[in-house]
Amino acid sequence: MATICKGLHMAKSMTKKMLEVKNLKVSYINENESVQIIRGFDLSLKKGEIVGVLGESGSGKTISTSAIVKLFDSADGHIDAGEVRFENIDLAKLKEKQLIEVRGKKISYIFQNPASALHPFKRVGRQLAGTLKAHKLPFSKEKIASVLKEVGLDNVETIYEMYPAQLSGGQNQRIMIAQSIICKPELLIADEPTSSIDASIRKRILDLLLQINTKYQMSIVFITHDFDIAKYLCDRIVVMYGGLSVEEGPMNEILDSPLHPYTMELIKCASSLDNHEETLYSLEGMPPTPYEFEDECPFINRCKFKLDLCAKRIPEVVVMGDRKVRCTNHIIYT
Ligand SMILES: Nc1ncnc2c1ncn2[C@@H]1O[C@H](COP(=O)(O)OP(=O)(O)OP(=O)(O)O)[C@@H](O)[C@H]1O
Ligand code: SF4
Ligand SMILES: [Mg+2]
Repeated sequence: MATICKGLHMAKSMTKKMLEVKNLKVSYINENESVQIIRGFDLSLKKGEIVGVLGESGSGKTISTSAIVKLFDSADGHIDAGEVRFENIDLAKLKEKQLIEVRGKKISYIFQNPASALHPFKRVGRQLAGTLKAHKLPFSKEKIASVLKEVGLDNVETIYEMYPAQLSGGQNQRIMIAQSIICKPELLIADEPTSSIDASIRKRILDLLLQINTKYQMSIVFITHDFDIAKYLCDRIVVMYGGLSVEEGPMNEILDSPLHPYTMELIKCASSLDNHEETLYSLEGMPPTPYEFEDECPFINRCKFKLDLCAKRIPEVVVMGDRKVRCTNHIIYT
């Protein structure tokens, strides 16, 4: 596994960037009050790469990645600033009509919970045909059956005629993956696609995503809070905290030498679990919610390395070769 990934990573590192998200800021309106949830999200991805977005619950993984294709109602959310450059077009500036052409066909999104993403009263076959029809692509029962087989489902003729409620969580997750790859998009965004399924089939779903990535050179943004999954799957990662991306870079380099104090803590928590330590290491305290955000580093109350300056402003991004970090310590000493 490690050797295959290394070879693939070298090949991928030579290709051009296909997606570049720069300083994205997203607000949501709740009870007539607008609150900025994403205050600076950066991510870059090359063709065929798998980039993980990591962070604890509430750090902003879903809102930032769903904003790439504006998967929110304009009455509820809006992009305040930033760029989402995909194949030289800024998606953040596109109108809803133009984005419909991109969603599903060029960029697909797999939701965290298949039960809420699949239509409960439509048979599986009809749902997949609907995706092809929406993008004016030819469809046939054979084509849909072959995609269902490709994602590892058996008895596809029967499944074609079934409703999501008649299938297991793992089968529905595979149907979601089938639906998201049926138009052969260039980029797949998968939001914790294995969090609601049994641990025994989790690895099979991850392997399926790796197969799809290799076979079609399909780039993947994979959202997770699990460092082990990111290690298994990802070439690069973006670490999020308090609505900000705080560190970005190649997976192995971040594991060997994390730059941000929060990443250091995440790695310590993951290795304490890996080593089956009797007393598991955990990070004290809670991250701030968007209603508690201040103009300071959001990690300040949990950080062992804080400086006076950390309370005075949100640290800006420091670029260090192929890596990025948002920490006052690196602004001062580099
Ligand atoms: N519609 C909304 N209005 C206001 N705040 C929201 C809304 N949706 C989410 N939030 C808040 O925004 C923050 C980021 O949410 P998000 O769902 O992106 O987190 P996440 O990192 O994906 O978490 P999880 O791992 O639990 O899925 C959270 O504090 C959440 O409570
Ligand atoms: S900016 Fe300051 S408080 Fe924030 S992570 Fe860096 S050292 Fe810690
Ligand atoms: Mg989420």
